[in-house]
Order: sequence, then C-alpha cells, then structure tokens
Amino acid sequence: MYLVKTSLRVKCSKCERDAVIRVPYAKLNLCKEHYVEYFEKRVLKTIERYKVFRDAKKVLIALSGGKDSLTILHVLTKYRDLLRVQLAGVHLDLGIGVYSDESRKIVLNACRDSGVECYIISLKDLLNYTLPELVEKTKRPPCSLCGLLKRYIFNTAALEWGYDVVVTGHHMDDILVFRLKEILIGREEGEVLKLLPYTESVKGLYAARARPLYETYEWEIRAYSELLGIKHIEVSCPFKYRDVISTNIAEMLEKIEKEVPGFEITLARRFARKTPRESSEVVISCKHCGMPSSSGICALCKLTMKTHGSPMGPSIRDALRNKRILLA
Ligand code: FES
Ligand code: ZN
Ligand code: ZN
Repeated sequence: MYLVKTSLRVKCSKCERDAVIRVPYAKLNLCKEHYVEYFEKRVLKTIERYKVFRDAKKVLIALSGGKDSLTILHVLTKYRDLLRVQLAGVHLDLGIGVYSDESRKIVLNACRDSGVECYIISLKDLLNYTLPELVEKTKRPPCSLCGLLKRYIFNTAALEWGYDVVVTGHHMDDILVFRLKEILIGREEGEVLKLLPYTESVKGLYAARARPLYETYEWEIRAYSELLGIKHIEVSCPFKYRDVISTNIAEMLEKIEKEVPGFEITLARRFARKTPRESSEVVISCKHCGMPSSSGICALCKLTMKTHGSPMGPSIRDALRNKRILLA
C-alpha cells in the first residue's frame, strides 16, 4: 500500500490539503477526497474504454463479501444514473461455516444500504451439499469447484432473470497473474476470454461478463475501501490457496512494478488489445440442461453425475427460474 507516512507533511498534488496516499504510476500525492475522485474516474474510464455496458440495461453484480466486489458495488451504485443501468447483487452462500455466514450478512447489508436488490443463493439448498462437503466427496481443489459452481450459477441466474451482464470484482493483479501463468504452463487457448475486461454474450448460453476493475491495482482498491470505510469480510476464505507458480509470478510483477511504475497497466492493455474476441473453442449446449459446454455435457452436469448420480443442471435451472432457492 502506498499510503504516505512521513513526519514531513506532503501536500496533495491537486489542492492544499495533506496527502494521504501516493499513486506512483501517476506521480501523484493525493488527499482523501482527490484520491476517491481519482479512483472512481479510473474505473469509469475502464468502463468507457472497453464499453463494458454497451447495450446493458440490467446489471447483475457477483458479490462475494470481499473488498473487491463490494468496492465495485459502491462505485456502480454511485454512478448508476450516469451509466443508465439498473443494478442487482447476487451472492452464493457456499456453506463454509462462519466465513460464509459473515460474508452473507455483509453482502445483504451492503445491498440494503445501496438500495440494490439482492439475491442470496444457498448452495446447500440448491445441491444438497455445502462446498466443504463437495470437496470431501470429490477430492477436487476447493477453488476450482467454487469457480465452476459460481460460473454456472451466476450465468444461469443472469439468463433466467433477464440480466444483460454479470459484473465481477476481478482486479488487474489477479488477472495478470492468471494470464501469465496460462502462458507459462502453455495452456493459453480458451481460458483467456475469462480474463478480458469484457466478454460478449452468446445468445441463450452466456450472459455478457464485465470486469470494471481490469485496470485497477489491488492496493488501490484496498486504499479506496479503507478510506471510505466500505465494510467487507476481513478474514480470508479458509480454502484460499495460491500455488507456487502464481505466488512467484505475483512477486515478480510486484518487483517490476516498483521499478517501472505503471508496467501492469501497460501489460493489461496490451493483453486486452491482442486477445482475439472470439474463442476458438466450440461451445454447444449441454444435452441435459442446455447450458454451455464444449463436449455436449457441461461441467456442472458432469460433476453432479458423479456426486449425485444424475445431472443436476436441469433442476438448478428450474430452481433459479422459479427463484425457489432465494433466501432474500
Ligand atoms: Fe477458493 Fe474460497 S474456495 S478462495
Ligand atoms: Zn486534494
Ligand atoms: Zn448441463
């Protein structure tokens, strides 16, 4: 974090007040008010640059309870009239004990305070298993299961409820680590579309996906949420795990960024420019539930054939369509 901490007073680059933060890549020292303004302008610029809300009227924000997604909720709520979008939040309660209980409460309160409709989906109600129970049953890494479930459930919810785009709080540091790792291990194809500021919709299969924090550093989000007191879950998910390749890439990026401020932004923009918009992977609808798949059976139906003995895609779609599983 680049908070200005010195016994000498540093003046804000834009006014007479004391600076509270330094933004190295922009060579700015900013007071709280000017930092907040600067941060929001950058997010709005990203929204504009990549036209992430091109034809969207109804926007569904995936909220985990963490600082990233709650920050994007805060910014979008503030500018929803300017952006001409109607917002709603969606949260998947994974059933990870106190961590999930706290996350759910924080999301509910944040949506209520923002005047945004909030959908809470309980994994246990939907699939009869919590995430820890599914991990135990499948022996699969928790984060890959969690990612698969969230992608399926949020995309299906958006399609069933008529939302044009799903917004996530992925920030630049994580996106670059993921992207560079894909290159390092030679698995770039297909996956990269998940890492763009905007992914187009595919009629009846995919809602569009937007990542308005695509050009925002994690430290910037932390500073913004701390300065504004945005409530978020303080503890990490007990399953959080960073593999050795990702850890090393993150450290390398941090070192380069220190010596070449702004390096990550340049790299993120280059990736966005150079990535083909269309995936070379064929997407066909799952023969069980009709959702996207590459082989005729989607990842969720495959998973649940193992865990439940039959594909659960159709019943999940049905439950979401009828909003049976909503806690709020
Ligand atoms: Fe991956 Fe919680 S399951 S961080
Ligand atoms: Zn100022
Ligand atoms: Zn399916």
